Amino acid sequence: MIVETLRLKNFRSYESCSVSLNPGMNLFTGANAAGKTNLLESLVYLSLTRSHRINDDSQLIRHDAPYAEIACRFHDGIDKEIGAIIRPDGKTLLLEHQPVRKSSEFVGLLNVVLFAPDDLGVFTDAPRTRRRILNQEITKISPKYLAALTDYQNLLKQRNSLLKNQNVDAGYLEVLDAQMIQKSIAIIHARRAFVKGINRHMEARYQTLADDPLACSLEYVSCIDLADEDIETSLQNLYFDSRQRDLENHVTSIGIHREDLVFELDHRNVTESASQGQKRMVMLAFKMALLQFIEEAVKKKAVFLLDDVLSELDRSRQEKLIELAGSQCQCVITATEIPTFLKGSSLTEFSIENGTIETKNGGTR
Ligand SMILES: Nc1ncnc2c1ncn2[C@@H]1O[C@H](COP(=O)(O)OP(=O)(O)OP(=O)(O)O)[C@@H](O)[C@H]1O
Ligand SMILES: [Mg+2]
Repeated sequence: MIVETLRLKNFRSYESCSVSLNPGMNLFTGANAAGKTNLLESLVYLSLTRSHRINDDSQLIRHDAPYAEIACRFHDGIDKEIGAIIRPDGKTLLLEHQPVRKSSEFVGLLNVVLFAPDDLGVFTDAPRTRRRILNQEITKISPKYLAALTDYQNLLKQRNSLLKNQNVDAGYLEVLDAQMIQKSIAIIHARRAFVKGINRHMEARYQTLADDPLACSLEYVSCIDLADEDIETSLQNLYFDSRQRDLENHVTSIGIHREDLVFELDHRNVTESASQGQKRMVMLAFKMALLQFIEEAVKKKAVFLLDDVLSELDRSRQEKLIELAGSQCQCVITATEIPTFLKGSSLTEFSIENGTIETKNGGTR
């Protein structure tokens, strides 16, 4: 898909702005705090219906403004217009100017993959962060996954509140377990397919980008042994074996809400021995594999957003990243200044200053 125009009103530092993007490479330059990440955040918001930086949407509304508005026209075979109106008490999502009631019908209409410097925290953060990546990315390609996950989370809440009782109704517990197992089967299948899909591309991306022959992969640490063919029986055994402990501890100790992902380089967890540069390459390789995975799954190319990544890379890696990303999909890149090797190349350059965006060369349509 190709983002054609993006319009912001009272979104973060932007009072009112509109940009037309190039179908290829777009570079936004600006000083620190100019509003570069804010711009990318607006596209992430339309993709996920949430910001990648904060949980409280009201922070997205420009100070002293009543509400914020994002509108985007993009092409994915046909022209589409989507938008969001963000008020302190909630948001309205729009498709062709009509409200969309369910987020699940909106998430993934515009598909973006963001790489931001903070992403390196994913390796060391608690498993919850890595599960969020799993859930977020699979949700973008499968509304059914979101439905199964939401049902599971509701059942988990019911199970945990049941376990708080002094006398637990064993029959009810069994009913909940059976329902949770059914939802877990769908979730585990989807997570396994996701990791498999990523692993088809991640190592080659790492080796090309980093010019390093090491093995690079993603491992799915499931609550069951994935070598077992019969997922349902494995889950039944798992729930049966942990029931007594859960009754004693008054909480659900096992299940898909405790699963994890491990990023591996040279067959080791990247947190163990990879350098900062290698970690950055692993994360970039993951994001690029994600672009390919999305394209295979939904037959549409996502838009790649690269926030302030070039300055962290040496020249040859910068060039490789631009070459690879540019040949794969539409890219929106931010930087504090234009890298010398990009000067004069076929990209559209924008500068951001005082909340306004100007096109610096004539490449826009
Ligand atoms: N709700 C808001 N209303 C007005 N201004 C805001 C709001 N939220 C953030 N800002 C302003 O946006 C600016 C930060 O923008 P942003 O994070 O996009 O900068 P950046 O160009 O990415 O900078 P850096 O190069 O340091 O990453 C800050 O000056 C901040 O005060
Ligand atoms: Mg920034």
